[in-house]
Amino acid sequence: MAPIPKRGTVAVTGAAGFLGGWVVRGLLDEGYRVRACVRDPDDPARTDFLKAMPGYASGRLTLHGADLDNPGCFDEIFKGCHGVAHISHISGYSDPYYMRRTCDHIIASVNGSGSVTRVVVTSSVAAVISEMDLQEIIRRPVFYEDRYPDELNPKRTPERGQGYSMAKLIAERAFAEAAAQSGDWDAITCCPGDNVGPILSAHQKDMGPWQHNIETMLLGDYRQTDAYRPWMTVDVRDDAKCHIRLLESSEVRNGERYIAWSTDSRNVEAICADIDRLLPELGHDTPQVIDPFPERIQAREAEFRSIWAKAELRNDRIRAVTAVTFRPLDDSIRDCVESLIAIAKVRPKQRARAAAPV
Ligand SMILES: NC(=O)c1ccc[n+]([C@@H]2O[C@H](COP(=O)([O-])OP(=O)(O)OC[C@H]3O[C@@H](n4cnc5c(N)ncnc54)[C@H](OP(=O)(O)O)[C@@H]3O)[C@@H](O)[C@H]2O)c1
Repeated sequence: MAPIPKRGTVAVTGAAGFLGGWVVRGLLDEGYRVRACVRDPDDPARTDFLKAMPGYASGRLTLHGADLDNPGCFDEIFKGCHGVAHISHISGYSDPYYMRRTCDHIIASVNGSGSVTRVVVTSSVAAVISEMDLQEIIRRPVFYEDRYPDELNPKRTPERGQGYSMAKLIAERAFAEAAAQSGDWDAITCCPGDNVGPILSAHQKDMGPWQHNIETMLLGDYRQTDAYRPWMTVDVRDDAKCHIRLLESSEVRNGERYIAWSTDSRNVEAICADIDRLLPELGHDTPQVIDPFPERIQAREAEFRSIWAKAELRNDRIRAVTAVTFRPLDDSIRDCVESLIAIAKVRPKQRARAAAPV
């Protein structure tokens, strides 16, 4: 199917979010017309940053209220759009049937648009690597697009924390199947890693989770990541660029998925310490990482860490089709910290100053 035309019209769901906001900004910067879909266009805390974008003043950026729990909410918004970047979260990840229903009505709006030729669906690396049994990672340590979690594991249930990964796979397949059936549009999946980078609006400090985690580090409190997994990151600005390039690409095909990450990975202890290394002017009091896990998990810390250390992260496919150059994690951490301070007024915990000599 056709890529979207340069400077065409794109609807962005989840436009007030961390990634969605950067996709809106990137599209505007590249000359597109953007329909930003948010739940409440009149909520100043969540939408003023969009209204402050220069494209809003001219009308090239418009805001639209749509709660994806309401079937048909995108019908009018998608009419006349060339592309859809479906980035938003859903209201919850505990019910796979709800996810499927949500996909179905968004798909109905795409089918009814008469104009959309490409949908980029935001999934996650959780749909690539989220395993109930970490032995799967020993067995299949290469993290690339054709890798899927072990979906036959009977413990893979929302109750055991797999709802997010399951829902993302439901969405990937629902869109690809519907697009194949339609023949008028195609669906390309983007699976981002852990997004780090600058927030655009104060409310985004509480979302994420990764920028929120950096906020808690700044405030002097940090908890270990599940299963001692290192962060496997992408800068949110590069992730946004990947989404735009996937909308534009003539090389991608319906049903393909692309992992967006830099392949940088880093343990949380190192990230906590990085704040002081990268911005010594702050005098940040590096927190001790709290390990909240029960003893039986703590006893396996070295084993878990060695499993992650052997994982091989790949991004050759997305680099080939998007030509995006991923920036180093140091830049993302620095810019995230500075934006949290400047935009969200976070006040970092500082080291006690040495007493002045008498
Ligand atoms: N952040 C990451 O590290 C990461 C990693 C992998 C994948 N992803 C995926 O990337 C996407 C964006 O993530 P993000 O971190 O940018 O999320 P975010 O900042 O939390 O933003 C998500 C947006 O989803 C919207 N939303 C939630 N429920 C909705 C509903 N029922 N109807 C309409 N909109 C709804 C919210 O809209 P309103 O603000 O208008 O209420 C919110 O702005 C998600 O699909 C996520 O799974 C993120």
